Amino acid sequence: MKFFIDTANLDDIAEAQALGILDGVTTNPSLMAKEGITGEENILNHYVKICEIVDGDVSAEVISTDFEGMVKEGEALAALHPQIVIKLPLIADGIKACKYFSDKGIKTNVTLVFSAGQALLAAKAGATYVSPFLGRLDDISTDGLNLIAEIRQIFDNYGFETQILAASIRHTMHVIDCAKIGSDVMTGPLSSITGLLKHPLTDIGLAKFLADYKKGN
Ligand code: E4P
Repeated sequence: MKFFIDTANLDDIAEAQALGILDGVTTNPSLMAKEGITGEENILNHYVKICEIVDGDVSAEVISTDFEGMVKEGEALAALHPQIVIKLPLIADGIKACKYFSDKGIKTNVTLVFSAGQALLAAKAGATYVSPFLGRLDDISTDGLNLIAEIRQIFDNYGFETQILAASIRHTMHVIDCAKIGSDVMTGPLSSITGLLKHPLTDIGLAKFLADYKKGN
């Protein structure tokens, strides 16, 4: 299972990268705005900074909602750095743009996926990643995990190579549940990754080992 971090915060990205378990980064316009990164030039520069911190795929989202705009923006994003993955919204023009980029061998991440049918369309358009938003479905009392399971079954039925990127992960249990279902990737905040480290018995056990070592030395 690949671990992506879902943030535009360079310190959080560097901390996850330093753990040695980070496979990539996802961003979106809201995450950029949260870090105060505004204006086209600053946003593009920020993507490059992220690519310089991590080794893996970095999703950069287009703002256009029409095919021509998405292609123009996506090509400029792809030219920024070889690690850039074009993030496209799941609308008709996004699917068309996904097919365009996948035919050119450019990686894509189709985002804002809330149904199995949408995921199937993205897979048929050759998406590298499809991003079902788990947490946002949970927020409206809908079973987000069931959506991940449905997509897993459909992709396995037909051997689609599109990777399921479980997005809108909010906490460690989402990560574990997605791993059990067989999601290819998860993307979440730093806390959803570092939270996996924590267990009180680990802390108690380590304190005891260190105390016992001191007794004998
Ligand atoms: C996915 O790539 C999105 O950036 C993200 O996971 C959305 O998460 P949120 O619902 O916590 O905003």
